[in-house]
Amino acid sequence: MANKILVTGGAGYIGSHTAVELINSGYEITIVDDLSNSKESAIAGIEKITGQKVEFVKLDLRDYDALKELFANNKFDAIIHFAASKAVGESMQIPLHYYRNNIQCLLNLLELMDEYNVPNMAFSSSCTVYGQPDQLPVTEQTPFKPAESTYGNTKKINEDILRDAARSNEKYQLIALRYFNPVGAHETAEIGELPLGVPNNLIPFVTQTAAGIREQLSIFGDDYGTPDGTAVRDYIHVVDLAKAHVIAVDRLLGKKNKANYEFFNLGTGKGSSVLEVVNTFERVNDLKLNYKIVDRRAGDVEQTYADTTLANEELGWKAELGLDEMMKSAWAWQQKLN
Ligand code: UFG
Repeated sequence: MANKILVTGGAGYIGSHTAVELINSGYEITIVDDLSNSKESAIAGIEKITGQKVEFVKLDLRDYDALKELFANNKFDAIIHFAASKAVGESMQIPLHYYRNNIQCLLNLLELMDEYNVPNMAFSSSCTVYGQPDQLPVTEQTPFKPAESTYGNTKKINEDILRDAARSNEKYQLIALRYFNPVGAHETAEIGELPLGVPNNLIPFVTQTAAGIREQLSIFGDDYGTPDGTAVRDYIHVVDLAKAHVIAVDRLLGKKNKANYEFFNLGTGKGSSVLEVVNTFERVNDLKLNYKIVDRRAGDVEQTYADTTLANEELGWKAELGLDEMMKSAWAWQQKLN
């Protein structure tokens, strides 16, 4: 019988791409999502790509009783926990919501994992835990800086919770995956990022500008200490990221993990500046973007990119898709939305 994976937030951007890769790797999945920042159309997209019916339960993970019922009625082998509030700016306006949502959901899951003997979890973390690192590239041993946002702080607290839970109870088998900047979409353009309202992140803003939904892209700062003065990030194709989650689950179920709490950086290892991203988008899609340089955005780090040695060696995973594929697939997805 196929192993059964509970995917929380599976209708979301990274969750939906991971759901596809899990199904393609022979896993059975149940998706739970409260659809607060996603649409049920993502489930249809997953079904269309995989040709399989997906079990979907609309549920808010803060609802302990409803979640308990789900655990009581299913035998899960592992959980991939994506469900969380994720907008940096919003997290500064409604911090209590972010703390309650992002922390309570994880606590409820960990308690029920213990009660129902589901030891395995892969957790969706972020390079935001490192802040602006003193040394580049960022390794897993790079010290954390105080979080710049409430959102970032919830990810740090979530990792603290995982570490302490694993230390207190050797039954838990936990892996945190620290994503750098996930972008792009599935090659079929059946699933992709669905930002609510005006996008905060670079790529959806770029694609919406190209589509004429936004008039102009603002590039936040060209006076950073980087080769072209614009900020540098490690952009990673969402499908590469999704595949790393399947490998993390394989590792847990195959008992290949070396400690009951592990954490890995997931990036390409290559930094790209905002201007490089814009130029690549224009080149691969053969169009011109309307953009202007404006002041720096408060809270932005100058540059960050991953040292991916640990994920390469321990997980046997390496990002395969480059910036060209990221920009092509992001535009194909945007055009489908129009
Ligand atoms: N940028 C622009 N114009 C825009 C949007 C972004 O110039 O309209 C720039 C930003 O200043 C930054 C780069 O593009 O230099 C990337 O910005 P994003 O908002 O796409 O991504 P961030 O690196 O700021 O944020 C991402 C995730 C967060 C996470 C953070 C950790 O979106 O969830 O990385 O560093 F917290």
